[in-house]
Amino acid sequence: MKKTIIAAALLLSAVCYGQKTEGLDPLIQNVYGREYTLLNGYWNYFADPLETGYYNYRRKPDPNGFFLDKKVDNVTTWKEYDFDLSPVMGIPGDWNTQDEKLFHYEGMVWFRQKFHATKDDSAKQYLYFAASNYLTRVFLNGKYVGTHEGGYTPFNFDVTDKLADGENTLILAVDNKRLPERIPTIICDWFNYGGITRDVLLVKVPQDFIRTYKVGLKQGTDDIVSAEVRLNSKEAGKEVRLSIPELKIELTGTTDSEGVAKFEKKAKISLWCPESPKLYAVSISAGSDSIDDEIGFRTVETRGTEILLNGKPIFLRGISIHEEAAFRSGRIAKVEEDRILLNWAKELGCNYVRLAHYPHNEQMVREAEKMGLLVWSEIPVYWTILWDREDVYANALNQLDEMIERDINRCNIVIWSIANETPHGDARDRFLSSLAKYAREKDPSRLISMAMERNDKSAEILSVRDNMSEYVDIISVNQYVGWYDGTNEKIDRVSWEIDYDKPVMISEFGGDALFGKHGTETDIWTEEYQADLYRKTIRMIEERMSPHISGMSPWVLKDFRSARRLLPQTQDGFNRKGLVSDRGERKQAFYILQDFYKKKSHETE
Ligand code: GCU
Repeated sequence: MKKTIIAAALLLSAVCYGQKTEGLDPLIQNVYGREYTLLNGYWNYFADPLETGYYNYRRKPDPNGFFLDKKVDNVTTWKEYDFDLSPVMGIPGDWNTQDEKLFHYEGMVWFRQKFHATKDDSAKQYLYFAASNYLTRVFLNGKYVGTHEGGYTPFNFDVTDKLADGENTLILAVDNKRLPERIPTIICDWFNYGGITRDVLLVKVPQDFIRTYKVGLKQGTDDIVSAEVRLNSKEAGKEVRLSIPELKIELTGTTDSEGVAKFEKKAKISLWCPESPKLYAVSISAGSDSIDDEIGFRTVETRGTEILLNGKPIFLRGISIHEEAAFRSGRIAKVEEDRILLNWAKELGCNYVRLAHYPHNEQMVREAEKMGLLVWSEIPVYWTILWDREDVYANALNQLDEMIERDINRCNIVIWSIANETPHGDARDRFLSSLAKYAREKDPSRLISMAMERNDKSAEILSVRDNMSEYVDIISVNQYVGWYDGTNEKIDRVSWEIDYDKPVMISEFGGDALFGKHGTETDIWTEEYQADLYRKTIRMIEERMSPHISGMSPWVLKDFRSARRLLPQTQDGFNRKGLVSDRGERKQAFYILQDFYKKKSHETE
């Protein structure tokens, strides 16, 4: 039902504000557990800054666009593009770091991949895109398939009837322009990596298949497995089987008129936790379809100012992470690059990571789950969003829905975040409170938060007062005393007045340091300054905030590219708040935080 509401909102917005997300089919969950062909590889591409391949000279969609990949004889017929004569680029991968002419390019790029497929009347076949930044128009064999808006969530199209038996031509027009009405909007402090940045798959499923499922603990229990399995067709009476051998669960159910089968069974479960990230093999089958997954069980809730994991208070020892590969500083394109960042988080002593400021790739979440890292997952509703535009809201809602749909079975995700550092206002409150309400209805098993900003009582009595505090489960605040607010000496002078009967987390603090730049603790940009900022902030948290603070995710694990950071010989296009440099070198502050987390972990063990 809710997906219908979203589709209606999107359709309305597409009609009202020009073409945006359209033609999507409901998302297939756990695609890597299905029969698929990876369409990754070297795709032909070329930039089209005036979007000539899509619009005619009257700026109307051109039926003879580049997506036809026309064959011409250059005698009686001609064209002004040629994929065969164009270079190739590695997919998945951003275009910025694969072609130096496109490093700062923001506009449309055309991509083409040819692949073989076999039509199969007993099956449905979908094109699944794990992510493509930002607006992606998809064409198959010269026919328009659909459009997706948003750069960090998956989307798929049923192409069963558009596939050719044998060779197929898949063409994408990807546009990564920053625009005020987009999400994220025209300014953000991370690099606008454009292109097909995650896997592309051709997924084959039976005509009747298991589209999504949710397997977890029944709300309020820690020993009752609860499962909902949704088939692609809304037919009652279809048999569905759920098997979790290690829990001696073998259940058979039947679907209701919505195509949903529900299960519940008491079991003696080893609950997932950072110290013991236990996952169970789960198999679900219906008709000729079956899907396997690895699923953990845990409870998460709040009690006053505490966060409880499996009923016990936990301090979230976190770090914020951007999805940027270490060493090469490009959008992450493979799981090995996820593991490097997550291993650094483990080395820090983290039990939690804030995956900022957008949903990271699926493997990042799954690897974190296996490694015992709790996750804060966030949609890029960041800074100055156009709060009073319905199409912008529909886009945010769709990205939120796609984020939850994809990862609803990842037990290590405990927080859905709906925003970062957004300016107070009635329109913003309406926009965000609606998102929070939607997230809570869609997934009541997780906590809702957002990264707020300080709203102080005075220069030295700091506070967090935000109308959104009533809509979130955890009050999270980004605070930069010592960097954007005074220098480090101010940290020892401030006090906090936080009067919520809810957990409070510090979702960001930090300061820039260029690895290898040394000086005194008062010398800005040095490792010593950054280390002193961490030392003083940790003391502030421990001595003048600790009754309220339930976790923290300092900004940031690794230096990352940002076009906002221009200081030559220090930033050079990088935000230098990393505890690790872009070349993997650990700064002094890394060890300050590591010592603190080691102490914290002994406190709670
Ligand atoms: C902000 C913002 C981050 C940004 C950081 C900074 O709080 O949330 O995205 O990178 O501060 O200024 O370094």
